[in-house]
Amino acid sequence: MSRPAPLELLARRAAEHEKRHLTRRLVCVGPANGRWVSVQGRRCLLLASNDYLGLSSHPRLAEAALEATLTCGTGAGASRLISGTLELHLRLEEAIARFKEAEAALLFPTGYMANLGVLSSLAGPGDLIVSDQLNHASLIDACRLSRAQVRVYPHGDVAAAEGLLAQGPDDGLRLLVSDGVFSMDGDLAPLPGLLAAARRQGALLVIDDAHGTGVWGARGRGSLEHCGLKPTPETVMIGTFSKALGGLGGFAAGAREVIQSLVNGARSFIFTTAPPPAQVAVALAALGLVDDEPQRRDKLHCLAALLRGLLIEQGLTLLSESGPIVPVLVGPADRALALAQALWQQGVFAPAIRPPTVPQGSSRLRLAVSAAHEEEDMHLAARALAAACREAGL
Ligand SMILES: Cc1ncc(COP(=O)(O)O)c(C=O)c1O
Repeated sequence: MSRPAPLELLARRAAEHEKRHLTRRLVCVGPANGRWVSVQGRRCLLLASNDYLGLSSHPRLAEAALEATLTCGTGAGASRLISGTLELHLRLEEAIARFKEAEAALLFPTGYMANLGVLSSLAGPGDLIVSDQLNHASLIDACRLSRAQVRVYPHGDVAAAEGLLAQGPDDGLRLLVSDGVFSMDGDLAPLPGLLAAARRQGALLVIDDAHGTGVWGARGRGSLEHCGLKPTPETVMIGTFSKALGGLGGFAAGAREVIQSLVNGARSFIFTTAPPPAQVAVALAALGLVDDEPQRRDKLHCLAALLRGLLIEQGLTLLSESGPIVPVLVGPADRALALAQALWQQGVFAPAIRPPTVPQGSSRLRLAVSAAHEEEDMHLAARALAAACREAGL
């Protein structure tokens, strides 16, 4: 029997994927300002961005990028441990540590790389990672990369998580890992319970607050602050500048011992070029804006509550009760695709979220509100969704 040619094999796999309505395609969008975007020639209300505070078009961030580029150049030129550490990197890491009330912090090029670096350097063979079933893909990949034993607990089930931690090795490290805010469902982790369970079981608690930082808590510090909690020395906080903070770059914040382990062991930190000056300066400026413009956060939550109310009035099923991630459950992937297409025809852009990003049978539209929106946009979105549901026969 002759072996299939490699490209033929790939084409066959792609056809299989297509049959299951799971093919992904890049959609080119026009310049976005956090509110409007042009998609395939149609001006649409943007409800698919994680730019929750609308900072990505803030002039202070653009000025920071420009100034850093003019004074420090466009690239850092080397990895952090060779000659890539600029004063800007250190200033940002100090600012992150202050922001997260941690002893120290470390910057990574992206949030994805922060997750890979943290889990794979802190845990290894002989250690145990206990991970929420709905954790982000980057945490799942990080668990695999660590080669530690990985046990997954049902979403948000603190007792199950604690039970798994209790079975961990006596001589190895135990890590309890959860998103702070779940990216596709928008709900918050049961942090008080997780923190207490981690403490009782002598585990490190690792919280990826990619969607909480800047958004949740009276001062925008994230989901821990929202829950009235202070990080313990055994808490490792991960975050990203790519969402509410309007830029790019991941970070970890925690005890000095943790950060020192990352500097020495996180391969996604060690073996990659340091983030360029513009990226770092934008991140620094964004942290300042979280404090200087708290009205953005207030507006964001008011708009999200308004949109949720309007959608619930229409009888739609939302997967979380508050916050700017408003997921509308559809079910089968093809129906979610049809709804997203009908919504685009109504002038609203919110692509369908399908497996493997979400579990089979739970495809959805993930509407994301931004402080760049206005009240009238929430009404427009609700009307458009009602019309799209009719058009898609839902
Ligand atoms: C929960 C969560 N963690 C990590 C990431 C990765 O962050 P970044 O886009 O900065 O790589 C994302 C999103 O992309 C996310 O949703």
